[in-house]
Amino acid sequence: MASAAMLNSPCNVGAVKFEVKVKPSPNLLSARTSIRLNRRRVLTVRASNESGSEPLRKMGLTDEECEAAVVAGNAPEAPPVPPKPVAPAGTPNVSSLPINRRPRRNRRSSAVRAAFQETSISPANLVYPLFIHEGEDDTPIGAMPGCYRLGWRHGLVEEVAKARDVGVNSIVLFPKVPDALKTSTGDEAYNENGLVPRAIRLLKDKYPDLVIYTDVALDPYSSDGHDGIVREDGVIMNDETVHQLCKQAVAQARAGADVVSPSDMMDGRVGAIRTALDAEGFEHVSIMSYTAKYASSFYGPFREALDSNPRFGDKKTYQMNPANYREALVELQADESEGADILLVKPGLPYLDIIRLLRDKSPLPIAAYQVSGEYSMIKAGGVLKMIDEERVMMESLMCLRRAGADIILTYFALQAGRCLCGEKR
Ligand code: PBG
Repeated sequence: MASAAMLNSPCNVGAVKFEVKVKPSPNLLSARTSIRLNRRRVLTVRASNESGSEPLRKMGLTDEECEAAVVAGNAPEAPPVPPKPVAPAGTPNVSSLPINRRPRRNRRSSAVRAAFQETSISPANLVYPLFIHEGEDDTPIGAMPGCYRLGWRHGLVEEVAKARDVGVNSIVLFPKVPDALKTSTGDEAYNENGLVPRAIRLLKDKYPDLVIYTDVALDPYSSDGHDGIVREDGVIMNDETVHQLCKQAVAQARAGADVVSPSDMMDGRVGAIRTALDAEGFEHVSIMSYTAKYASSFYGPFREALDSNPRFGDKKTYQMNPANYREALVELQADESEGADILLVKPGLPYLDIIRLLRDKSPLPIAAYQVSGEYSMIKAGGVLKMIDEERVMMESLMCLRRAGADIILTYFALQAGRCLCGEKR
């Protein structure tokens, strides 16, 4: 368990070994205590002799007598300078390189590395995307091992409880809508008694302090599988779609959503949703805008999970071209001026440069979405024993943080939260 070891490593200070066992790790304590005050915490600080032998017995001398002995040249004995460690036979005998920069000095022990670690990650940074359906049972998602379409009344509530238990207190909901409710205008999206509003009300009733993000887009509700309304010539209608999205966002806010997240990439939707929310008295509801959402093949497993593949064509007239970098700035300026509270980049790992770009250009919080294809690749590599799943998972999340993401939407949220808390599955 790489991360847990890193966070909870024993540190050696001089000849005395302090073993600090913290569960959860120190930088998580505040997050955890604010979430679950009644949770058992283990905090033991033990100072023990390095060798485990008895400490030197005191001689009963005063400070003055000790000093006098040293001044007289009778310093007490201390361990000798250790001999130089021997190199293996055959090691070439060379003189030191004439360099004054040796960056390895700051990496030489785990305590030193921990001291100079620039980026950290905590369960509080994670948002857990959850698939829900009308069924009673949880159905495994073939392309996403470990992920399920959760029954909204049971499986969902249990999964949220597990996540909260390790400090992951933010979720985002994605509904699998029955085909019979899908239409070309996606009107089920704003049904106040639809699957998502019902699930939000249930969760808020059980866990009032849970932070609930919602997805604002028509695709799970569209008989065409597109994020917007499709005209007969195949054009995705912008302003008409935005009208529907506003109704969807208001329905979600009314049910108790904390953050509505337009993932549709229509123009002008952030400003319109802000106005619609405010007009209904939802000034306190945040907007996380999918600012730079690319037309990516990494979404494949997600579309299988929701059966939301476009029935024809692709999403390239609204999602961004993966070849484009500067265009993210155009979207950034629009979203900032329209009142977005959080800016999201999607996918995550292949788009670290875009995360860094937004981080450097905007003071707003940045979110990264580690999407379904990224998750499935790591899972598959782990199952095939080609990579160490847990280490690669933690490294990928750390790298998203390093690139500049404040929060990360990831299907690994629960697994990573457990890992960060030092819990074994
Ligand atoms: C739909 C939506 C998609 C994802 C999140 N919201 C799919 C898409 O745009 O086609 C993808 C998430 C993932 O792949 O994990 N608006």
